[in-house]
Amino acid sequence: MQGGGAHRIESQHKKGKLTARERLHFLLDEGSFQEIGMLVTHRSVDFGMEKEKYPGDGVVTGYGTVNGRLVYVFSQDFTVFGGSLSETHAEKICKVMDLALKNGAPFVGLNDSGGARIQEGVVSLGGYADIFYRNTMASGVIPQISAIMGPCAGGAVYSPAITDFILMVEHTSYMFVTGPNVVKTVTHEEVTSEELGGAHTHATKSGVTHFACANEIAAIQHIKQLLSYMPQNCEDKAPSLHYETGNETRPELNSLLPPAPSTPYDIREVIDHVIDKDSFLEVHKDFAENLVVGFARLAGRSIGIVANQPAFLAGVLDIHSSTKGARFVRFCDCFNIPLLVFEDVPGFLPGTDQEWNAIITNGAKLLYAFCEATVPRVTVITRKAYGGAYDVMNSKHIGADMNFAWPSAEIAVMGAKGAAEIIFKREIGKADNHEAKWLEMEQLYSDTFANPYRAAERGFIDEVIEPAETRVKLIQAFKMLENKVVNNPRKKHGNIPL
Ligand code: COA
Repeated sequence: MQGGGAHRIESQHKKGKLTARERLHFLLDEGSFQEIGMLVTHRSVDFGMEKEKYPGDGVVTGYGTVNGRLVYVFSQDFTVFGGSLSETHAEKICKVMDLALKNGAPFVGLNDSGGARIQEGVVSLGGYADIFYRNTMASGVIPQISAIMGPCAGGAVYSPAITDFILMVEHTSYMFVTGPNVVKTVTHEEVTSEELGGAHTHATKSGVTHFACANEIAAIQHIKQLLSYMPQNCEDKAPSLHYETGNETRPELNSLLPPAPSTPYDIREVIDHVIDKDSFLEVHKDFAENLVVGFARLAGRSIGIVANQPAFLAGVLDIHSSTKGARFVRFCDCFNIPLLVFEDVPGFLPGTDQEWNAIITNGAKLLYAFCEATVPRVTVITRKAYGGAYDVMNSKHIGADMNFAWPSAEIAVMGAKGAAEIIFKREIGKADNHEAKWLEMEQLYSDTFANPYRAAERGFIDEVIEPAETRVKLIQAFKMLENKVVNNPRKKHGNIPL
């Protein structure tokens, strides 16, 4: 129960970190934790290790409940050999993973480890691989969450990377494949651990972490909140809380869009007005901000939201936002969480940076993810739906069930200005006043296509709705789609462009 002893516990606390058992105490419902393998010790006899044994061998494992629902957990104990992973430490983690998979309940890992147990050599590397294999086999079957609450370096990073969500604690955790010293030797870059792989870095630059949390308690609260939106496993329905219906009209939405179509607004305001009060948990908040994704509740039901963000880069799709969106859509689809899309997208971001870094392949990920998703899918076009991005953003053509548009929607191949320049080039060129002719042609194009009615005539839009009615329409649509069943063609697995 004392891990590596009082002295090491004190040094853990001095670093602003909780111990493995304290973390589990805050995560699990009181009295629910059942420990497995408390007396396991390592089998190493090299370097005098046979004289140094600690019951539990640096990881606390078992099961318990979070808000009354079963979860399997491990919590690494940095006070025992720096939480490093020995053969037996890995066996303990694998044992709870196997139980989680067989019994269909989420698996939560609290990571705080110096990596492979150096004294054990290859058996500890084998232990990592045993965990990676199980993470992969469990992917899409049970939700898997990794919190990083200390070091996580080298091979150790790949278990969290395969799980569904990563949370990092600011200033006390870091993740990297090779640390600052190796980086300095190989690339001559001088970088601190925090800069290289701290929570802020991974939340903003790499997108490796989905959440950067101010402290460990905040991280634990986030884990509990995340779990509340998820079913226990892929055969289970997404949770639905009791909900009293009231007046669901939201008149504020009628005046939320700015009058000029190119003026930005924050899509989160639209989201907040549509969903149940304060129910939005944004995922990847500070990464690829041009796309907002997260969990919410609508009339008590869990839903996943994917929304273009006109307040950031005009809401364009680019490499990072496409991969962020794709992964989120796939998570929701794995776990029967219906998808709601808010669309206001002027297209894909142009430029050599995007093209050379494969916006083609990466943009295709989001398209592919939507195409294969079989959960109920509803889209609301608030303003722009231009070009290929119109197709990608959960259009009717790729399997969306209900597509609504506000009267302000512009569903077109491109913006009216650019379109007029191309198709009326000759007319504009011949005119005495180029500018005036261009404006006239732009208006003509805009009147023809920059509205939702052409698409609605074709049935690509099911209904043009008053913004105030959005919440009512969405509640009805998701209720109607409650028992949706779609079976994609039988296959071993698809080949998403990676
Ligand atoms: N294997 C065995 N023991 C390890 C270990 C490992 N991978 N990592 C840390 N430890 C032990 C240390 O020997 C120390 O033991 P002690 O309490 O008996 O003194 C204890 O864990 C704490 O480590 P310490 O280095 O004092 O903590 P720190 O907070 O200053 O630094 C690390 C933490 C992780 C940066 C540092 O321990 C480290 O670099 N570890 C090795 C990382 C690595 O290369 N792992 C293998 C590749 S995956």
